[in-house]
Amino acid sequence: MEPMESSEAIEKIILSRDGDWEFDHQVSLVFDDHVRKSIPCYNDIQELIGILSKRILSHNSLVYDLGTATGEIIRSIHRANPNTKIRYVGVDKSVSMLKVAREKCRTMKQVTFYNQDLETFTFKPAELIVAAFTFQFIKTEHRPFILESIYKALKPNGHFILCEKISYADAAEHDFFVNVHHTWKENHFTFEEIRAKKERLKHIMQPLTLEENMALLGQANFEHPQLFFKWCNFACILAKKAMVDHL
Ligand SMILES: C[S@@+](CC[C@H](N)C(=O)[O-])C[C@H]1O[C@@H](n2cnc3c(N)ncnc32)[C@H](O)[C@@H]1O
Repeated sequence: MEPMESSEAIEKIILSRDGDWEFDHQVSLVFDDHVRKSIPCYNDIQELIGILSKRILSHNSLVYDLGTATGEIIRSIHRANPNTKIRYVGVDKSVSMLKVAREKCRTMKQVTFYNQDLETFTFKPAELIVAAFTFQFIKTEHRPFILESIYKALKPNGHFILCEKISYADAAEHDFFVNVHHTWKENHFTFEEIRAKKERLKHIMQPLTLEENMALLGQANFEHPQLFFKWCNFACILAKKAMVDHL
C-alpha cells in the first residue's frame, strides 16, 4: 500500500475485499472513522461509558477494555477522569489494532496492552471491565467461560459493561431492524458496500438477542443487569457484581 493513500481509498479497499472480515493492518488504519459510520451513536456510547466510569472508579482502580481495538474506550474513560490515577489494561488479539492503540495512548501513563485471545486471558482483580462490540466476535460457546472469568475478576461492587449488536428471535422483526440499520448506514456507504460487508461478517459475527445476553450475564452470577443504551439492534448493558459474592 502507498503511504499516502487516503483513508477513503483504504476504506474502499477493505469494503471491496473477498473473504471473512479481519481486524488487520488496513482496517486498523481507518477503524476510528469506519466504526463511527457503522455503529449508530458510537460517540454517545463512548461518552456515556466515560460518564458511568466516573461513578465507578477511584484512585488506583483497574479497568480492563476487552477487544480494545484502537484504544478508543480507554481514551474516553481517561478523558472523563482526568484527575484520577487509573490503571488501564487493553486486550486484543489483533497485533495491527494494538499498534494503533499503543500509538494513540503513548502519552498516557499506566496503560498496558496485551496481545492475547480473551479465551485464555487471566484477569487481575478489577473495578471495571468493558467489552464494547467485542463479544459478538467470540464464538457463542466460549462466551460463558469468559463471562465467568470476568465475574470472578471483578471486586465486590465492580461493574461490567457489555455493548453488543443484537439479533431478534422473530425472523421478521430481525430483518426489519437489520434493514433499519442498513438504511442508517446509507448515510455513509453505498448499498453494494453495505451488502458486501454483511456477507464478510456472516461467518465471524454472532449477535445474540438481548434476552440471551441478559441470560448469559445471569448465568455468570451478575444480578439485575441493566440496559442503559439501545438503538434498534445495538444495546449496552451495565452489570454489577454484588457487594457480597454469592459464589
Ligand atoms: C469491533 S472491535 C471493538 C471495538 C472497540 N471495543 C471500540 O469500542 O472501539 C472488535 C475487536 O475485538 C477484537 N477481538 C475479537 N475477538 C477477540 C478475542 N477472542 N480476543 C481478543 N480480542 C478479540 C478484534 O481484534 C477487534 O479489535
